[in-house]
Amino acid sequence: MTAAQKIAVITGASRGIGKATAQALAARGHQVAIVFKQQRAAADAVVAEIIAAGGHAEAFQADVADAGSVDALAHAIARRYGHIDVLVNSAGVYGARPLAELDPAFFTEQFHNNTLSVLLTTRAFAPLFGAAGGSIVNLSSNLARAPQAETAVYSASKAAVDALTRGFAIELGPRQIRVNAVAPFITRTDMTAGIPDELRQQFAAQTPLGRLAEPQDIARAIVALASDDLAWVTGRTLLTDGGFTD
Ligand SMILES: NC(=O)c1ccc[n+]([C@@H]2O[C@H](COP(=O)([O-])OP(=O)(O)OC[C@H]3O[C@@H](n4cnc5c(N)ncnc54)[C@H](OP(=O)(O)O)[C@@H]3O)[C@@H](O)[C@H]2O)c1
Repeated sequence: MTAAQKIAVITGASRGIGKATAQALAARGHQVAIVFKQQRAAADAVVAEIIAAGGHAEAFQADVADAGSVDALAHAIARRYGHIDVLVNSAGVYGARPLAELDPAFFTEQFHNNTLSVLLTTRAFAPLFGAAGGSIVNLSSNLARAPQAETAVYSASKAAVDALTRGFAIELGPRQIRVNAVAPFITRTDMTAGIPDELRQQFAAQTPLGRLAEPQDIARAIVALASDDLAWVTGRTLLTDGGFTD
């Protein structure tokens, strides 16, 4: 099957890493389903940009932390495309709090949006992969391996994504569905817009490459994992951190 016939579903594609991934997959001939939660105008703009560039894209609203919403999304995509070849789970939220301010509501918000979401989409979309299989790429974080102060819960929610990635890779391997994750360090998106420039420069200076990531840096790694070039890679988390993490 050529890339021109491939269908890719990207959650969190209205902005940031998901948007860059949708654009990169569309540029390689995939038809892309742009999944957003609230920012319909941003999602429509991504669709318009991809179509203007000669690609195929359509926007779908869903809350990936809600089972009913994810199942409805999968039904809508099954009706529209019949099958999928690639699923990228980029939707997520970041929160940082000191230990004394941690509470069940914060834990639930982080784990529902970052971890339960991966379970729900994988469960709902796995039946839509065809006989040739395909690829699922999840968004972890370098913090899953190296948490920093006030990031314990977010880091744990991403460490759990790494475990889901490994476990689902084993379960879906017999159907030739590969499941991998990328683990970015600070990447220039809305999620990291609040990081002061001075801190940004300090972190950049600590990477061997002397800079922080653009969304396209992470998107290229996701596209590689989604492609047949990495057909022998599954159950892995790739640190896409410019060499920052020990
Ligand atoms: N940026 C970084 O430095 C960094 C580093 C490591 C890991 N990551 C991970 O990479 C992923 C993408 O991050 P980003 O920086 O691109 O984020 P972002 O710019 O803040 O965008 C978040 C995206 O997720 C969507 N989203 C959030 N919760 C959702 C939900 N419950 N249902 C459906 N969609 C939802 C948002 O949709 P709306 O636009 O509709 O709100 C938006 O498209 C996240 O999983 C994040 O944890 C990011």
